[in-house]
Amino acid sequence: MTFDELKEKYPHFVSAANYLEENCYFFKSTFRKIKQLELDYEFAEKLCKDCHDYAKGNEDEFRKKVHTLIDFSVEFLRLQLHLHKTGHYLYSSYDELDRNVYSDPNRKLKGPWYMWALYFSQIFWVTHWNVFKFFISDFVKNNNARGDILEVPVGTGIFISYFLRNNPGWNGTGVDLGETAIEFAKNVLSWDHIEKDRINIIKEDIYKFETEKKFDKILCGEFLEHVEDPLGVLKKLHALLNKNGRVFLTVAVYAEMIDHIYLYRRADDVREHVRLAGFIPEKELVQAVFEKDSPEGVNVPINYCAILKKAENE
Ligand SMILES: C[S@@+](CC[C@H](N)C(=O)[O-])C[C@H]1O[C@@H](n2cnc3c(N)ncnc32)[C@H](O)[C@@H]1O
Repeated sequence: MTFDELKEKYPHFVSAANYLEENCYFFKSTFRKIKQLELDYEFAEKLCKDCHDYAKGNEDEFRKKVHTLIDFSVEFLRLQLHLHKTGHYLYSSYDELDRNVYSDPNRKLKGPWYMWALYFSQIFWVTHWNVFKFFISDFVKNNNARGDILEVPVGTGIFISYFLRNNPGWNGTGVDLGETAIEFAKNVLSWDHIEKDRINIIKEDIYKFETEKKFDKILCGEFLEHVEDPLGVLKKLHALLNKNGRVFLTVAVYAEMIDHIYLYRRADDVREHVRLAGFIPEKELVQAVFEKDSPEGVNVPINYCAILKKAENE
């Protein structure tokens, strides 16, 4: 497809991509990379158009939201230098993080402030798009007609919403501690026209979340690095999962963001927690964030992603 054809068919996506290319060195090869990545343009256009509509068609507002991805990416690079220098993340406990970041009175938002950045990263960060592609091909397709899915933390809500849209016989539950995330996810679900009786969004700490239900599928994206006790979280997910259920897990390894508190140094550290919690990775997608690094390297940023099943079902 030529650039003009792309622009005509997917105008909001092209507008966002153009903005990123023109305003940040980090995104200067966006169009070239996208061509190699088999990006789902329909999905990308919908994501961008939903944001544009949310901004009531105001171009400046739309660009401001796209711009959050630039701020987020630059912050990641800056903090990654901190990690290289010190060998540890800025904070190591939830209380410390909550005091200094999530509940900082100087910040306008209660909870994580980067929801739009996370939203756009799903199509504009190579590793995140590869994860989403893997999610579509290996988790969203070929399911039973009915089932229950849990997403914790629900974050932007993109994953659970996409799943429910493509599995109309399923019901969903989303749990997150952050008010900003809860509000954002509710918006995304409404843009996707997910019926209210099919989704329950709960503002709760995963450690306090109780339910009688067992889930057939669980989504747990970019979370273990946000908690002090990731093994405890994995054990909890194990208890919440049905016997033949599956978990879609993604973890940031040795990648500093201000609210990352548990430092995994290599993919094998995550695999060890997965094993100790009683899971087996059925299929993995492990990516180094930077092309020069190996996905199995130590002390290099890695995006670990896997579909897990219960070990006792082997
Ligand atoms: C990087 S986001 C992940 C979002 C989501 N999985 C996604 O991919 O869009 C991390 C999320 O963890 C939530 N969070 C942090 N600690 C939590 C806890 N103890 N219980 C539930 N949610 C928590 C934050 O509010 C934030 O929305």
